[in-house]
Amino acid sequence: MRQPIIAGNWKMNKTLTESVEFVNALAPRIAPFSGVERVVCPTFIALPAVADALRGTDIKVGAQDVHWQEKGAYTSEIAPNMLQGLAEYVIIGHSEVRAYLNETDERVNLKTKAALKAGLKPIIAVGESDTQREAGETETVVTRQIRAALDGISAEDMAQIVIAYEPIWAIGTGKNATGETANEVIGGMIRPTLAALYGDQVASATRIQYGGSVNADNMAEYMTLPDIDGALVGGASLRLDDFTKLIEIAAQVKGV
Ligand code: 13P
Repeated sequence: MRQPIIAGNWKMNKTLTESVEFVNALAPRIAPFSGVERVVCPTFIALPAVADALRGTDIKVGAQDVHWQEKGAYTSEIAPNMLQGLAEYVIIGHSEVRAYLNETDERVNLKTKAALKAGLKPIIAVGESDTQREAGETETVVTRQIRAALDGISAEDMAQIVIAYEPIWAIGTGKNATGETANEVIGGMIRPTLAALYGDQVASATRIQYGGSVNADNMAEYMTLPDIDGALVGGASLRLDDFTKLIEIAAQVKGV
């Protein structure tokens, strides 16, 4: 049984003070929904304070990126061991990092390996653009991203990994993928790719989220679909009522 995982990717939002205020208000509200794994991913500078604020709760913290080297002359970067004790999860390969910071499949793979080595759990984001979808390239793109990200990663390590299917055209656009479309990619393309790489057991044990304009109105639709194991949420995770509602819906529909 895959436990659903709802992660809020705050992107470049919320100051340190706002981040702490938010989780202090959020924690008691989502405490009852323990059948769902709940993660917040603040900016790097808010990680220590948010981790402190959430200590003693079962709400997890994630980082939004990580470098693959252990240390060195990499101005502006954060090494995996710097996240130890602060974050349990780390988002790797988000389409915004791919688009604005020239993230490559190869670096997604290096980061995934480095994160695992440091005991962090990667949330690997994949997804096609509008043009790629219209050209019928969704399967090629998503399969390539998955295979590249997981190159050299063992079946055992797959237990630590979450995949997030985030079609670029659905992110921040309000134009969410239908449940059917998301489930088709997750169940019909991503899981079979995992099965080809690791066998059916790993493929059916790996949690795969949907992300892209998830909100309180469309959450239930995703959660009723068999292959979707939660959501990676941007905009709606910044708002207390909305994020709480998403978690409540996930717990009602799919909580374990
Ligand atoms: P939105 O929910 O704002 O579309 O963002 C999705 C996302 O990119 C989460 O990582």
